[in-house]
Amino acid sequence: MTMPELAYINGVFCPIGEAMVSIDDRGFQFGDGVYEVILSYDGHLFQLEPHIQRLRRSADAIQLTYDFDGRPLEPVIREGVKRCEFSDVMVYIQLTRGVAPRDHTMPNDCIPTVVMTFRARPQIPRQMRTDGVRLMTLLDTRWANCYVKAITLLPNILAKTEAVRRGYYDVVFVTATYEVRECSSSNIFIVRDGRLVFPPRTESVLHGVTQRFLLECAAGIDVPVDEQIFHVDLLRGADEVFMSSTVVEVLGVHSIDDQPIADGKVGPVTRRLYEEFQRRLPQSIRGTGS
Ligand code: PDD
Repeated sequence: MTMPELAYINGVFCPIGEAMVSIDDRGFQFGDGVYEVILSYDGHLFQLEPHIQRLRRSADAIQLTYDFDGRPLEPVIREGVKRCEFSDVMVYIQLTRGVAPRDHTMPNDCIPTVVMTFRARPQIPRQMRTDGVRLMTLLDTRWANCYVKAITLLPNILAKTEAVRRGYYDVVFVTATYEVRECSSSNIFIVRDGRLVFPPRTESVLHGVTQRFLLECAAGIDVPVDEQIFHVDLLRGADEVFMSSTVVEVLGVHSIDDQPIADGKVGPVTRRLYEEFQRRLPQSIRGTGS
C-alpha cells in the first residue's frame, strides 16, 4: 500500500497526521536533537552516505548515542521512499535524545527518538531558476539572542551536562573577552564592597523574573545595586556570588573553577537577600491574586 505523505516514528510507518511524539521528548522541550534532509530522485537517494555521515557527526557532537550500526537508518529511508507515492521525495530525518522529564542535564538512560517524514520534493519555479532570486544581508545573531526564552536550549544543556559530569553544579557563561553573562538556567549576581552587581540586561542574557524581584528585595534591605559589565577576575575576586532563578530562587556559590569565593562560605548579603526573598514571597503571591 502506498501513502501520499508518510511518517516513520520509532519503528512504525504511518500517515503524517497520526505520527505523535511525547511532550516530554527532549526534541520538543529543548531542541535536543539533530537532523538531515535528503532528496530522492526517481527512487534514487542522492548522496545518502555523506548525509548519514553528517548525521553521525552531529549526533556525536552533542553526545547523542544512537546505534547507527545495529539499527541502521538506510533501510528505513529506502523503505519510506518506496512506500510513499512520490517519484521525487524529500526525506526529513530527526534524531532526538528521547523522552525524559524536563531537566537541562542529559539523562543517561534515554532511548533516542527516530522520526522521518517523506514528502514530495519542493519545486523551485522555472521562472525563479532562470531569473534568480533577491537576497538581503543580515547580521548573524543566531544563538545570540539569549533574552528570548526560547526552547532551543541545546548549548545550555551541553554546558550544564558537561559541568555536572565534571562535578560542578553549573557553568557561568563568559564571552571571549571574559565578560560574565549568566548560568545555564539562572542569572548570576556578585557582591562587592557591600554592593550587589549583576550583568546588564542586554539581548545576551535572559532577563530573570527572580532577578527583578531580588532588586526589590535589595532595595528593601538597603543594599545598593549596580547593573554593569564585569569580568571573570571580578567574579573570582568577589566577596559573594549567587545564582537566581525560579527554580533555585537564591543559591549561594562557594567556589568557581575550584577557587573559593572569599572564605568559601555563603556570604551574609546572599543570606539576607534570601531571607528577604522568603519574607516577601507570601505578600507577592497574594499581590498577584494567584
Ligand atoms: N530558567 N537565565 C536562563 C538562561 C534561564 O533559563 C533562566 C530560567 C534564568 C532565570 O530566569 P527566572 O528568574 O525568570 O526563572 C536565567 C528556567 C528556570 C528553566 O529553564 O528551567
